[in-house]
Amino acid sequence: MIKERKVLVTGSSDGIGRSITLSLLNSGAKVIGLARDHSKFNPEMKNYIKYKTDFSNEEILLNTIAKIINEHRDLDCLVSNAGFGKFGTLETFSTKEINDFIFTNLTSHMILTNKILPHLKKIRKGNIIFIGSESALKGGKNGSLYSAAKFGLRGFSQSIREESCSKNIHVSLINPGMVRTSFFNNLDFMPGEDKSNAIEPDDIGKIIIDILSTRNGSVIEEINLSPLKKVIKFL
Ligand SMILES: NC(=O)c1ccc[n+]([C@@H]2O[C@H](COP(=O)([O-])OP(=O)(O)OC[C@H]3O[C@@H](n4cnc5c(N)ncnc54)[C@H](OP(=O)(O)O)[C@@H]3O)[C@@H](O)[C@H]2O)c1
Repeated sequence: MIKERKVLVTGSSDGIGRSITLSLLNSGAKVIGLARDHSKFNPEMKNYIKYKTDFSNEEILLNTIAKIINEHRDLDCLVSNAGFGKFGTLETFSTKEINDFIFTNLTSHMILTNKILPHLKKIRKGNIIFIGSESALKGGKNGSLYSAAKFGLRGFSQSIREESCSKNIHVSLINPGMVRTSFFNNLDFMPGEDKSNAIEPDDIGKIIIDILSTRNGSVIEEINLSPLKKVIKFL
């Protein structure tokens, strides 16, 4: 029953995470939302609890996770979603940019899972859902950083699934193609204008409900979701 679930959603203030959060709240679940700036999305719902954190900062992240695990013993689901895109030819990135990008978009997901998994194993139930990307399936021009993080997340998700199924933990990965969100605000491309050129964030909100409604004895391991017609608009 979704109503009985308490779900930690990272990147709940915008885009895909915001749609996932709304979808869960409207289904009666309790949601703990994590982001840097909650002023972008601040619903007055008593089943929504917000924590400010920063996935680019290890110390802040570890403090937030410790607080949440201590304050929410009934937490039974993680949606690991927060992230951003950075695209360009590899030689245009400094070593610091590479490290910072991989920290936020891969390492922070691993750290969060590392801290939450023991709790889920102890209560012997739960879901962990990662938001990957079509870039987790195939690399491409200008996508070396992004694909490296998302391929890594895919391998991580598959390994954690194998490691934790005996403790009744269900691990899933969603690989969307282009989703119409603020993700593209700082990039030089975006999906085409037509509705069929991008996934809507709410499409992913619905998938989360499907994953959490699946019979306990089975698991949705991976979902690839694409716009009907892939059109990229370069700015
Ligand atoms: N849009 C797409 O086409 C697409 C396709 C495939 C996969 N994805 C993946 O989906 C995920 C969400 O992307 P989106 O499209 O929803 O982007 P978005 O609209 O820009 O939302 C990103 C979310 O992540 C949070 N976030 C980013 N950096 C953070 C940090 N350092 N600390 C804390 N929170 C941070 C943001 O919150 P604050 O800014 O408030 O901190 C925001 O809530 C990402 O992992 C992305 O790679 C996106």
